[in-house]
Amino acid sequence: MDAPPLDKENTKIPSYQSPKRSIDKLQVEMKELSEKAQQLLTEKLFLENECAQLKKRANRLDEELRNLRTPPYVIGFIQDRVGDNAVVRNSNGTVFLVSVNRRLDESLLIPGARVALNQDSLSIIEVLDNSWDPLVSGTEIIEKPLTTFSDIGGLDEQIKQIRQAIELPFERPEAFREFGIEPPKGVLITGPPGTGKTMLAKAVANSTEATFLGLVGSELAQKYIGEGGRMVRELFDLARKRAPAIIFIDEIDAIGSKRLDMATSGDREVQRTLMQLLAELDGFETLDDVKVIAATNRPELLDVALLRPGRFDRIIDIELPNSEGRQHIFEVHCNNVPLDKQVNIRKMAIATEGYSGAEIKSIIIEAGMSAIADYRNRCSAKDFSSALTIMDRKRKDSLHNGPDSLYS
Ligand SMILES: Nc1ncnc2c1ncn2[C@@H]1O[C@H](COP(=O)(O)OP(=O)(O)O)[C@@H](O)[C@H]1O
Ligand SMILES: [Mg+2]
Repeated sequence: MDAPPLDKENTKIPSYQSPKRSIDKLQVEMKELSEKAQQLLTEKLFLENECAQLKKRANRLDEELRNLRTPPYVIGFIQDRVGDNAVVRNSNGTVFLVSVNRRLDESLLIPGARVALNQDSLSIIEVLDNSWDPLVSGTEIIEKPLTTFSDIGGLDEQIKQIRQAIELPFERPEAFREFGIEPPKGVLITGPPGTGKTMLAKAVANSTEATFLGLVGSELAQKYIGEGGRMVRELFDLARKRAPAIIFIDEIDAIGSKRLDMATSGDREVQRTLMQLLAELDGFETLDDVKVIAATNRPELLDVALLRPGRFDRIIDIELPNSEGRQHIFEVHCNNVPLDKQVNIRKMAIATEGYSGAEIKSIIIEAGMSAIADYRNRCSAKDFSSALTIMDRKRKDSLHNGPDSLYS
Protein backbone atom coordinates (compact mmCIF):
# COMPACT_ATOMS: atom_id res chain seq x y z
CA MET A 1 0.00 0.00 0.00
CA ASP A 2 1.07 3.45 -0.76
CA ALA A 3 1.81 5.74 2.01
CA PRO A 4 -0.85 8.41 2.40
CA PRO A 5 0.00 11.71 0.87
CA LEU A 6 1.53 14.19 3.22
CA ASP A 7 -0.78 16.96 4.02
CA LYS A 8 1.13 20.07 4.75
CA GLU A 9 -1.47 21.51 7.00
CA ASN A 10 -2.56 18.57 9.03
CA THR A 11 0.43 16.50 9.30
CA LYS A 12 2.64 18.04 11.92
CA ILE A 13 5.95 16.76 12.78
CA PRO A 14 5.35 15.04 16.11
CA SER A 15 8.87 15.46 17.41
CA TYR A 16 8.45 19.18 17.15
CA GLN A 17 4.76 19.91 17.89
CA SER A 18 3.73 17.56 20.75
CA PRO A 19 6.08 18.84 23.53
CA LYS A 20 4.69 22.35 23.15
CA ARG A 21 1.19 21.11 23.33
CA SER A 22 1.84 19.02 26.36
CA ILE A 23 3.62 21.91 28.06
CA ASP A 24 0.62 24.11 27.48
CA LYS A 25 -1.61 21.43 28.71
CA LEU A 26 0.54 20.81 31.75
CA GLN A 27 0.64 24.48 32.49
CA VAL A 28 -3.13 24.69 32.43
CA GLU A 29 -3.32 21.60 34.55
CA MET A 30 -0.80 23.02 36.97
CA LYS A 31 -2.70 26.23 37.26
CA GLU A 32 -5.85 24.33 37.92
CA LEU A 33 -4.14 22.20 40.49
CA SER A 34 -2.57 25.09 42.27
CA GLU A 35 -5.94 26.78 42.40
CA LYS A 36 -7.37 23.64 43.79
CA ALA A 37 -4.54 23.41 46.28
CA GLN A 38 -5.20 26.96 47.36
CA GLN A 39 -8.84 26.12 47.77
CA LEU A 40 -8.06 23.02 49.79
CA LEU A 41 -5.68 24.99 51.92
CA THR A 42 -8.39 27.49 52.69
CA GLU A 43 -10.76 24.67 53.42
CA LYS A 44 -8.20 23.09 55.69
CA LEU A 45 -7.73 26.32 57.60
CA PHE A 46 -11.45 26.66 57.90
CA LEU A 47 -11.88 23.12 59.19
CA GLU A 48 -8.99 23.52 61.60
CA ASN A 49 -10.62 26.61 62.93
CA GLU A 50 -13.93 24.85 63.30
CA CYS A 51 -12.24 21.92 64.94
CA ALA A 52 -10.61 24.21 67.50
CA GLN A 53 -13.95 25.81 68.23
CA LEU A 54 -15.64 22.48 68.69
CA LYS A 55 -12.84 21.34 70.98
CA LYS A 56 -13.35 24.41 73.08
CA ARG A 57 -17.04 23.79 73.22
CA ALA A 58 -16.48 20.16 74.16
CA ASN A 59 -14.21 21.30 76.99
CA ARG A 60 -16.79 23.72 78.20
CA LEU A 61 -19.51 21.10 78.16
CA ASP A 62 -17.18 18.69 79.90
CA GLU A 63 -16.61 21.17 82.65
CA GLU A 64 -20.30 21.86 82.95
CA LEU A 65 -20.93 18.17 83.21
CA ARG A 66 -18.26 17.85 85.88
CA ASN A 67 -19.86 20.70 87.80
CA LEU A 68 -23.23 19.06 87.57
CA ARG A 69 -21.74 15.79 88.76
CA THR A 70 -19.87 17.21 91.76
CA PRO A 71 -21.56 16.23 94.96
CA PRO A 72 -22.96 19.12 97.00
CA TYR A 73 -20.67 20.70 99.54
CA VAL A 74 -21.39 20.43 103.21
CA ILE A 75 -21.52 23.67 105.16
CA GLY A 76 -19.66 23.95 108.43
CA PHE A 77 -17.96 26.36 110.77
CA ILE A 78 -14.30 26.41 111.74
CA GLN A 79 -13.86 25.90 115.45
CA ASP A 80 -10.11 25.83 115.71
CA ARG A 81 -6.91 25.46 113.71
CA VAL A 82 -4.50 22.62 114.42
CA GLY A 83 -1.33 23.06 112.37
CA ASP A 84 -2.33 22.81 108.72
CA ASN A 85 -5.65 21.26 109.61
CA ALA A 86 -8.84 22.66 110.99
CA VAL A 87 -11.46 21.56 113.45
CA VAL A 88 -14.85 22.09 111.86
CA ARG A 89 -18.35 21.56 113.06
CA ASN A 90 -20.91 20.69 110.43
CA SER A 91 -24.51 21.74 110.51
CA ASN A 92 -25.53 18.58 112.41
CA GLY A 93 -23.20 19.58 115.20
CA THR A 94 -20.62 16.86 114.63
CA VAL A 95 -17.01 17.96 114.96
CA PHE A 96 -14.23 16.81 112.57
CA LEU A 97 -10.53 17.39 112.09
CA VAL A 98 -10.14 18.08 108.38
CA SER A 99 -7.56 19.21 105.86
CA VAL A 100 -7.61 22.57 104.16
CA ASN A 101 -7.33 23.47 100.49
CA ARG A 102 -3.86 25.04 100.18
CA ARG A 103 -5.07 27.72 97.79
CA LEU A 104 -7.20 29.34 100.44
CA ASP A 105 -6.27 32.58 102.12
CA GLU A 106 -4.98 31.68 105.59
CA SER A 107 -6.26 34.91 107.08
CA LEU A 108 -9.84 33.88 106.31
CA LEU A 109 -9.48 30.47 107.92
CA ILE A 110 -10.21 31.62 111.42
CA PRO A 111 -12.47 30.16 114.09
CA GLY A 112 -16.05 31.13 113.36
CA ALA A 113 -15.61 31.29 109.56
CA ARG A 114 -18.32 29.59 107.53
CA VAL A 115 -16.85 27.09 105.07
CA ALA A 116 -17.83 24.66 102.33
CA LEU A 117 -16.61 21.10 102.93
CA ASN A 118 -16.08 18.28 100.46
CA GLN A 119 -18.76 15.72 101.06
CA ASP A 120 -16.44 12.72 101.28
CA SER A 121 -13.28 14.02 102.87
CA LEU A 122 -14.89 17.03 104.58
CA SER A 123 -11.79 18.99 103.70
CA ILE A 124 -12.33 22.70 103.42
CA ILE A 125 -12.89 23.68 99.79
CA GLU A 126 -13.88 27.28 100.18
CA VAL A 127 -14.47 29.98 102.75
CA LEU A 128 -17.96 31.42 102.49
CA ASP A 129 -18.70 34.98 103.40
CA ASN A 130 -20.06 35.12 106.85
CA SER A 131 -23.57 36.03 105.96
CA TRP A 132 -26.44 34.64 107.94
CA ASP A 133 -29.29 32.56 106.90
CA PRO A 134 -30.89 34.43 103.99
CA LEU A 135 -34.14 34.34 105.90
CA VAL A 136 -32.69 36.52 108.60
CA SER A 137 -30.38 38.63 106.50
CA GLY A 138 -33.27 39.40 104.17
CA THR A 139 -35.40 40.88 106.90
CA GLU A 140 -32.96 42.45 109.23
CA ILE A 141 -32.19 46.12 108.92
CA ILE A 142 -28.66 46.31 110.13
CA GLU A 143 -28.14 49.89 109.07
CA LYS A 144 -28.77 52.44 111.69
CA PRO A 145 -32.11 54.15 111.15
CA LEU A 146 -31.89 57.80 110.16
CA THR A 147 -34.73 59.00 112.37
CA THR A 148 -33.63 61.10 115.33
CA PHE A 149 -35.46 62.42 118.38
CA SER A 150 -35.51 65.88 116.84
CA ASP A 151 -37.69 64.54 113.99
CA ILE A 152 -40.39 63.70 116.49
CA GLY A 153 -42.95 66.32 117.41
CA GLY A 154 -44.40 66.23 120.93
CA LEU A 155 -43.94 62.90 122.74
CA ASP A 156 -41.42 64.44 125.16
CA GLU A 157 -42.59 62.20 127.96
CA GLN A 158 -42.41 59.06 125.78
CA ILE A 159 -38.95 60.00 124.54
CA LYS A 160 -37.81 60.33 128.15
CA GLN A 161 -39.27 56.94 129.02
CA ILE A 162 -37.72 55.07 126.14
CA ARG A 163 -34.33 56.64 126.74
CA GLN A 164 -34.47 55.53 130.34
CA ALA A 165 -35.47 52.01 129.44
CA ILE A 166 -33.11 51.44 126.52
CA GLU A 167 -30.34 54.00 126.37
CA LEU A 168 -29.46 54.24 130.02
CA PRO A 169 -28.85 50.51 130.59
CA PHE A 170 -26.61 50.46 127.51
CA GLU A 171 -24.66 53.46 128.68
CA ARG A 172 -24.36 52.77 132.39
CA PRO A 173 -24.93 49.06 133.08
CA GLU A 174 -22.76 49.29 136.21
CA ALA A 175 -25.15 51.80 137.79
CA PHE A 176 -28.01 49.35 137.39
CA ARG A 177 -25.88 46.61 138.94
CA GLU A 178 -24.94 48.79 141.90
CA PHE A 179 -28.53 49.62 142.62
CA GLY A 180 -29.59 46.03 142.05
CA ILE A 181 -32.18 47.16 139.55
CA GLU A 182 -32.93 45.02 136.55
CA PRO A 183 -33.38 47.17 133.49
CA PRO A 184 -36.34 46.11 131.34
CA LYS A 185 -35.68 43.53 128.65
CA GLY A 186 -38.53 44.58 126.51
CA VAL A 187 -40.44 47.77 125.87
CA LEU A 188 -43.82 47.79 124.22
CA ILE A 189 -44.94 50.95 122.46
CA THR A 190 -48.70 51.19 122.03
CA GLY A 191 -50.94 53.79 120.44
CA PRO A 192 -53.18 54.54 117.45
CA PRO A 193 -51.80 54.25 113.91
CA GLY A 194 -49.57 57.05 112.68
CA THR A 195 -48.69 58.49 116.06
CA GLY A 196 -44.94 57.89 115.84
CA LYS A 197 -44.43 54.47 117.43
CA THR A 198 -42.09 53.28 114.69
CA MET A 199 -40.33 56.64 114.71
CA LEU A 200 -39.73 56.44 118.44
CA ALA A 201 -38.16 52.98 118.23
CA LYS A 202 -35.95 54.01 115.31
CA ALA A 203 -34.87 57.22 117.02
CA VAL A 204 -33.73 55.41 120.15
CA ALA A 205 -31.81 52.93 118.03
CA ASN A 206 -30.20 55.84 116.23
CA SER A 207 -29.14 57.47 119.47
CA THR A 208 -27.30 54.38 120.75
CA GLU A 209 -24.36 52.54 119.30
CA ALA A 210 -26.34 49.33 119.26
CA THR A 211 -26.95 47.17 116.19
CA PHE A 212 -30.51 47.59 115.01
CA LEU A 213 -32.45 44.53 113.88
CA GLY A 214 -35.87 45.37 112.57
CA LEU A 215 -38.69 43.01 111.80
CA VAL A 216 -42.32 43.59 110.86
CA GLY A 217 -44.66 41.13 112.54
CA SER A 218 -47.18 41.00 109.72
CA GLU A 219 -44.44 40.28 107.17
CA LEU A 220 -43.05 37.54 109.33
CA ALA A 221 -46.45 35.95 109.62
CA GLN A 222 -47.12 36.07 105.88
CA LYS A 223 -43.77 35.65 104.18
CA TYR A 224 -42.21 32.91 106.19
CA ILE A 225 -44.97 30.44 106.60
CA GLY A 226 -43.63 27.54 108.61
CA GLU A 227 -40.43 29.46 109.31
CA GLY A 228 -41.63 32.04 111.82
CA GLY A 229 -40.24 30.22 114.84
CA ARG A 230 -36.89 29.67 113.21
CA MET A 231 -36.73 33.29 112.09
CA VAL A 232 -37.30 34.51 115.63
CA ARG A 233 -34.63 32.17 116.97
CA GLU A 234 -32.09 33.25 114.38
CA LEU A 235 -32.91 36.88 114.91
CA PHE A 236 -32.13 36.58 118.61
CA ASP A 237 -28.96 34.57 117.88
CA LEU A 238 -27.82 37.28 115.55
CA ALA A 239 -28.62 39.98 118.11
CA ARG A 240 -26.54 38.20 120.76
CA LYS A 241 -23.63 37.91 118.33
CA ARG A 242 -23.84 41.58 117.44
CA ALA A 243 -24.58 42.86 120.93
CA PRO A 244 -25.19 45.53 122.04
CA ALA A 245 -28.27 45.21 119.89
CA ILE A 246 -31.85 46.35 119.69
CA ILE A 247 -34.44 44.04 118.19
CA PHE A 248 -37.46 45.93 116.97
CA ILE A 249 -40.64 44.00 116.22
CA ASP A 250 -43.13 46.33 114.60
CA GLU A 251 -46.80 45.32 114.44
CA ILE A 252 -46.22 42.60 116.97
CA ASP A 253 -49.95 41.87 117.20
CA ALA A 254 -49.53 39.87 113.97
CA ILE A 255 -47.47 37.24 115.79
CA GLY A 256 -48.35 37.87 119.40
CA SER A 257 -52.12 37.80 119.41
CA LYS A 258 -54.17 35.92 121.96
CA ARG A 259 -54.22 32.16 121.86
CA LEU A 260 -57.84 31.57 120.98
CA ASP A 261 -59.24 28.39 119.54
CA MET A 262 -56.95 27.67 116.72
CA ALA A 263 -58.93 27.03 113.62
CA THR A 264 -56.41 27.13 110.82
CA SER A 265 -52.87 25.94 110.41
CA GLY A 266 -51.92 29.55 109.81
CA ASP A 267 -53.03 30.35 113.35
CA ARG A 268 -51.04 27.46 114.72
CA GLU A 269 -48.02 28.74 112.85
CA VAL A 270 -48.46 32.15 114.44
CA GLN A 271 -48.66 30.39 117.78
CA ARG A 272 -45.36 28.63 117.18
CA THR A 273 -43.77 31.95 116.35
CA LEU A 274 -45.19 33.47 119.51
CA MET A 275 -43.96 30.56 121.63
CA GLN A 276 -40.50 30.92 120.19
CA LEU A 277 -40.58 34.63 120.92
CA LEU A 278 -41.55 33.96 124.54
CA ALA A 279 -38.80 31.36 124.85
CA GLU A 280 -36.23 33.80 123.50
CA LEU A 281 -37.37 36.58 125.82
CA ASP A 282 -37.07 34.25 128.80
CA GLY A 283 -33.76 32.87 127.59
CA PHE A 284 -31.54 35.87 128.08
CA GLU A 285 -30.45 37.90 131.04
CA THR A 286 -31.54 41.49 131.32
CA LEU A 287 -27.95 42.63 131.26
CA ASP A 288 -27.23 40.70 128.10
CA ASP A 289 -26.97 43.86 126.04
CA VAL A 290 -29.92 42.87 123.91
CA LYS A 291 -33.09 44.93 124.15
CA VAL A 292 -36.37 44.21 122.50
CA ILE A 293 -38.76 46.93 121.45
CA ALA A 294 -42.15 46.06 120.04
CA ALA A 295 -44.92 48.26 118.75
CA THR A 296 -48.61 47.70 118.22
CA ASN A 297 -51.79 49.64 117.41
CA ARG A 298 -53.84 46.99 119.13
CA PRO A 299 -52.48 46.09 122.54
CA GLU A 300 -55.83 44.56 123.49
CA LEU A 301 -55.13 41.73 121.05
CA LEU A 302 -51.83 40.79 122.62
CA ASP A 303 -51.42 37.58 124.52
CA VAL A 304 -51.00 38.47 128.19
CA ALA A 305 -48.06 36.08 128.36
CA LEU A 306 -46.06 38.66 126.42
CA LEU A 307 -46.68 41.28 129.07
CA ARG A 308 -45.47 39.29 132.07
CA PRO A 309 -42.50 40.57 134.08
CA GLY A 310 -39.24 39.77 132.32
CA ARG A 311 -40.85 40.05 128.91
CA PHE A 312 -42.39 43.28 127.66
CA ASP A 313 -42.51 44.70 131.12
CA ARG A 314 -42.40 48.36 130.22
CA ILE A 315 -45.25 49.87 128.27
CA ILE A 316 -44.96 53.25 126.63
CA ASP A 317 -48.31 54.51 125.51
CA ILE A 318 -48.67 57.17 122.85
CA GLU A 319 -51.95 58.97 122.46
CA LEU A 320 -53.21 61.13 119.64
CA PRO A 321 -51.37 64.43 120.00
CA ASN A 322 -52.98 67.37 121.80
CA SER A 323 -52.90 70.80 120.21
CA GLU A 324 -49.42 71.53 121.48
CA GLY A 325 -48.18 68.19 120.20
CA ARG A 326 -49.82 68.88 116.84
CA GLN A 327 -48.21 72.30 116.67
CA HIS A 328 -44.86 70.70 117.38
CA ILE A 329 -45.44 68.09 114.66
CA PHE A 330 -46.42 70.84 112.18
CA GLU A 331 -43.24 72.68 113.09
CA VAL A 332 -41.04 69.64 112.64
CA HIS A 333 -42.47 68.78 109.23
CA CYS A 334 -42.60 72.41 108.00
CA ASN A 335 -38.98 72.87 108.94
CA ASN A 336 -37.81 72.70 105.33
CA VAL A 337 -40.98 73.92 103.65
CA PRO A 338 -40.99 77.59 102.58
CA LEU A 339 -44.16 79.20 103.99
CA ASP A 340 -46.01 82.45 103.37
CA LYS A 341 -46.09 84.76 106.37
CA GLN A 342 -49.87 84.32 106.57
CA VAL A 343 -49.56 80.63 107.35
CA ASN A 344 -50.50 80.24 111.00
CA ILE A 345 -49.31 76.95 112.43
CA ARG A 346 -50.93 77.52 115.79
CA LYS A 347 -54.34 77.92 114.15
CA MET A 348 -53.84 74.76 112.09
CA ALA A 349 -52.84 72.82 115.17
CA ILE A 350 -56.09 73.87 116.83
CA ALA A 351 -58.10 72.99 113.72
CA THR A 352 -56.74 69.46 113.54
CA GLU A 353 -58.24 68.00 116.69
CA GLY A 354 -58.07 64.22 116.57
CA TYR A 355 -55.45 64.08 113.79
CA SER A 356 -52.42 61.80 114.07
CA GLY A 357 -48.86 62.81 113.27
CA ALA A 358 -49.05 60.88 110.00
CA GLU A 359 -52.19 62.79 108.99
CA ILE A 360 -50.56 66.12 109.80
CA LYS A 361 -47.64 65.14 107.63
CA SER A 362 -50.06 64.35 104.78
CA ILE A 363 -51.59 67.82 105.09
CA ILE A 364 -48.18 69.42 104.69
CA ILE A 365 -47.35 67.23 101.70
CA GLU A 366 -50.69 68.06 100.08
CA ALA A 367 -50.17 71.81 100.62
CA GLY A 368 -46.64 71.61 99.26
CA MET A 369 -47.83 69.76 96.16
CA SER A 370 -50.44 72.38 95.34
CA ALA A 371 -47.85 75.18 95.63
CA ILE A 372 -45.49 73.26 93.36
CA ALA A 373 -48.26 72.58 90.83
CA ASP A 374 -48.98 76.35 90.68
CA TYR A 375 -45.30 77.20 90.18
CA ARG A 376 -45.22 79.17 93.41
CA ASN A 377 -42.16 79.02 95.62
CA ARG A 378 -44.02 79.22 98.94
CA CYS A 379 -46.95 77.45 100.52
CA SER A 380 -49.86 79.81 101.14
CA ALA A 381 -52.47 79.72 103.86
CA LYS A 382 -54.92 78.75 101.12
CA ASP A 383 -52.82 75.70 100.18
CA PHE A 384 -53.14 74.59 103.77
CA SER A 385 -56.85 75.25 104.09
CA SER A 386 -57.62 73.22 100.96
CA ALA A 387 -55.23 70.50 102.13
CA LEU A 388 -57.13 70.42 105.41
CA THR A 389 -60.43 70.08 103.59
CA ILE A 390 -59.07 67.21 101.50
CA MET A 391 -57.70 65.44 104.57
CA ASP A 392 -60.95 65.99 106.42
CA ARG A 393 -62.86 64.32 103.61
CA LYS A 394 -60.42 61.40 103.52
CA ARG A 395 -60.84 60.92 107.24
CA LYS A 396 -64.61 60.85 106.92
CA ASP A 397 -64.38 58.31 104.08
CA SER A 398 -62.08 56.16 106.11
CA LEU A 399 -64.56 56.07 108.96
CA HIS A 400 -66.83 54.20 106.58
CA ASN A 401 -64.08 51.92 105.33
CA GLY A 402 -62.52 51.20 108.70
CA PRO A 403 -59.82 53.20 110.43
CA ASP A 404 -56.96 51.24 108.94
CA SER A 405 -57.77 52.07 105.32
CA LEU A 406 -55.90 55.36 105.61
CA TYR A 407 -52.68 53.67 106.42
CA SER A 408 -52.67 50.75 104.10
N1 LIG B 1 -44.98 62.65 116.68
C1 LIG B 1 -44.64 62.75 115.40
N2 LIG B 1 -43.75 63.69 115.01
C2 LIG B 1 -43.41 63.83 113.72
N3 LIG B 1 -43.88 63.06 112.74
C3 LIG B 1 -44.76 62.11 113.05
C4 LIG B 1 -45.18 61.89 114.39
N4 LIG B 1 -46.04 60.87 114.41
C5 LIG B 1 -46.16 60.44 113.15
N5 LIG B 1 -45.39 61.18 112.31
C6 LIG B 1 -45.29 61.03 110.87
O1 LIG B 1 -46.09 59.95 110.48
C7 LIG B 1 -45.32 58.91 109.87
C8 LIG B 1 -45.76 57.56 110.40
O2 LIG B 1 -45.38 57.45 111.75
P1 LIG B 1 -45.03 56.04 112.40
O3 LIG B 1 -43.99 56.25 113.40
O4 LIG B 1 -44.75 55.05 111.35
O5 LIG B 1 -46.42 55.73 113.07
P2 LIG B 1 -46.87 54.40 113.79
O6 LIG B 1 -45.72 53.48 113.83
O7 LIG B 1 -47.30 54.87 115.15
O8 LIG B 1 -48.04 53.90 113.01
C9 LIG B 1 -43.89 59.21 110.24
O9 LIG B 1 -43.03 58.84 109.20
C10 LIG B 1 -43.87 60.70 110.46
O10 LIG B 1 -43.59 61.36 109.26
MG1 LIG C 1 -45.57 51.83 112.68
